[in-house]
Amino acid sequence: MSTVIKGGTVVTADLTYVADVLVDGGRIAAIGPDLTGDTVLDAAGCYVMPGGIDPHTHLEMPFMGTYSADDFESGTRAALAGGTTMVVDFALPSPGQGLLDALKMWDNKATRAQCDYSFHMAVTWWGEQVFDEMEEVTRRGINTFKHFMAYKGALMVNDDELFASFSRVGDLGGIAMVHAENGDVVAELSARLLAAGNTGPEAHAYSRPTQVEGEATNRAIMIADMAGVPLYVVHTSCEESHEAIRRARMQGKRVWGEPLIQHLTLDESEYFNTDWDHAARRVMSPPFRGKQHQDSLWAGLQSGSLSVVATDHCAFTTDQKRTGMGDFTKIPNGTGGLQDRMPMLWTHGVGTGRLTPNEFVAVTSTNIAKILNCYPRKGAVLVGSDADLVVWDPAATKTISAATQESAIDYNVFEGQEVTGLPRYTLTRGRVAFADGAINPDPGHGQFVARAPKGAVNRALSTWKELTAPRPVERSGIPATGV
Ligand code: URP
Ligand code: ZN
Ligand code: ZN
Ligand code: ZN
Repeated sequence: MSTVIKGGTVVTADLTYVADVLVDGGRIAAIGPDLTGDTVLDAAGCYVMPGGIDPHTHLEMPFMGTYSADDFESGTRAALAGGTTMVVDFALPSPGQGLLDALKMWDNKATRAQCDYSFHMAVTWWGEQVFDEMEEVTRRGINTFKHFMAYKGALMVNDDELFASFSRVGDLGGIAMVHAENGDVVAELSARLLAAGNTGPEAHAYSRPTQVEGEATNRAIMIADMAGVPLYVVHTSCEESHEAIRRARMQGKRVWGEPLIQHLTLDESEYFNTDWDHAARRVMSPPFRGKQHQDSLWAGLQSGSLSVVATDHCAFTTDQKRTGMGDFTKIPNGTGGLQDRMPMLWTHGVGTGRLTPNEFVAVTSTNIAKILNCYPRKGAVLVGSDADLVVWDPAATKTISAATQESAIDYNVFEGQEVTGLPRYTLTRGRVAFADGAINPDPGHGQFVARAPKGAVNRALSTWKELTAPRPVERSGIPATGV
């Protein structure tokens, strides 16, 4: 059964043109005028764009003594309802656990995914087993390895471990990723705040100032440069971190930054709300920042110094958040956003003139498909690409509310926000999973997307590093010693 999307305007990262799109066998079969198919989807007044790719989710993740509340079934349902057709989740070995063991656990979690997915592998400890298994992980289609410079005593790795792991990732042709915050300083500031009676959620923000993120970003960039590996900095939230990334890119280093939709649109005043639940629901790391940092992130997307908008979807219920009443360090860190990323970015980006529709496609889909080495299978509207598509109605509006969301949690950090620009249809490998405001569920439809190592950027960087590697100076006529 083929499907034709008729009467829309195709919008990609670099082109805008009127065309029908024919989908057959899960792929795009034709693009052009006057196409016919077994089923017709009306795209009049709409844009036909690559489905969103969210490269940063934590579905059913064990974290801070509990599990994030959205699993692959509800998380990918939320994704599809918001126009996102692929998620990349983090396989997270507990300290001492093997990478392949963790991967098996994440394979099992993902069996009920409703859209395609891939994994990053987290390096949460260092040893011979980790070093050895990284090769097999890469062989299985995972070319990205995440490191936490924060969460001391749990997931954090130190500089010597970072350097060893980054070097290994570089040798395997992968990309190093970092959560960049100085975990030692955060731990010390947290202890001091608690001792001084600062126990509420606002102390979470006090404990993680922008400087600790900026320092860690600079450190990660330096270590990646020494190790000869491309670096992807997740949840870039502030000017200090953006400045480090911007400078590195200007120097020709292969570094990417990923702001979240939450940091772009919500600010630190949320933590000063007198309702404890309101503030705690917004506790995440890094925390929300001031307006000047938001302006910096938007400018980064406009200028190209920041490349991708993600969610870091890691949703906890109010009850889970309440574990931290009386001690902010025990509030599970994380917020939701999978269903809202695309409408919020369209509203606050395209709707305000900060982004063009093509730039919107670039930062929600195409750029990350290229970085992760799954383009043009994903992130493209091209004949032969997977039919992961969103038919986007730029005039449709709604008010975001937990009462109507797909996520399993009982609140939404964007509650009450009016958005303009919503999916009319979302297609996952040709299957219409969302139509006119309703989900058509199919748990298990999602497939793992394997991503090969040694992409173009890796090849270019290793050529350059080889060319500029230290070499001994050849000398002649050295006088014999002892004469
Ligand atoms: O607060 C956050 N971001 N929770 C999820 C885990 C992480 O640090 O990405
Ligand atoms: Zn993180
Ligand atoms: Zn995360
Ligand atoms: Zn199916």
